[in-house]
Amino acid sequence: MVLQTPHASPNELSEADVLEVADLYDRCADYFLLQDGTASTLADAKELFTDVPPEKDADDQTVLGWRDDGGLYAIAAILRDYPREGTWYLGFMMVDAARRGQGLGRSIYGAIEEWATMRGAAEIRLAVLEANEAGERFWRSLGFGEVRRVGPDTFKVKSHRRIELSRHVNGRFIAGGN
Ligand SMILES: CC(C)(COP(=O)(O)OP(=O)(O)OC[C@H]1O[C@@H](n2cnc3c(N)ncnc32)[C@H](O)[C@@H]1OP(=O)(O)O)[C@@H](O)C(=O)NCCC(=O)NCCS
Repeated sequence: MVLQTPHASPNELSEADVLEVADLYDRCADYFLLQDGTASTLADAKELFTDVPPEKDADDQTVLGWRDDGGLYAIAAILRDYPREGTWYLGFMMVDAARRGQGLGRSIYGAIEEWATMRGAAEIRLAVLEANEAGERFWRSLGFGEVRRVGPDTFKVKSHRRIELSRHVNGRFIAGGN
C-alpha cells in the first residue's frame, strides 16, 4: 500500500494542551452546531482527552495534533484495540474550518493510519453522524465502508444516528491517485 506523505508529523497532545484544542473548536463552530446544536465549551475540549468507552482507559487513547506557525490546525483521537484487538477506533478528527478542502484531511488521515499500523492496527473504524454528509463523503472517498448504523443518541440538544465505517489498513486507499 502506498500512503501519501504526511503534510506534517503529528505531536501527541495531553490535557495541558486543552486551551489550544478549545481554540481550534471555536474555529470549527460549524461542526459543533451540526453535532450539538450549541457552541463548544472548554468542557468539550477536556472531554477529548477523557471520554473513552467504560471498558477502556484514557491511556488507551492517543490524541494527535498538527501545528504550524498559525498554531493547532488539526486534531485526531484514536483508541487502540476497540472494539476488538487489532481494530483501532478513530473517535474524532477535525481540520480547522478555514483550511478544509485543500487535501489536509486526506493527508492527516494517511499519517494517522501509518501511526496506528506501526503500533499494530489492522483495521480502522469510526462513526460519522448521518447528518454529516460532507464527512461521510470524505470517509467513503478514502475507501471506508459501512459496518452498521447505530443510535439515535443524544448530543446536547440534538439527537443523531451514526454510520459506523471501517477500513482495513491493507485495503483500498485513494491518496492523490497513488
Ligand atoms: C472531514 C474533514 C476532516 C476533511 O478534511 P479536509 O481537509 O477538508 O479534507 P480534504 O481536503 O483532504 O478532502 C479529501 C476528500 O474528501 C472529500 N471531501 C472533503 N470535504 C468535503 C466536502 N465538504 N464535500 C465533499 N467532499 C468532501 C473530497 O472527496 C476530497 O477529495 P478531493 O481531494 O478529490 O477534493 C474536515 O472537513 C472536517 O474537519 N470536518 C469537520 C469535522 C468532521 O466532520 N470530522 C469527521 C467526523 S467523523
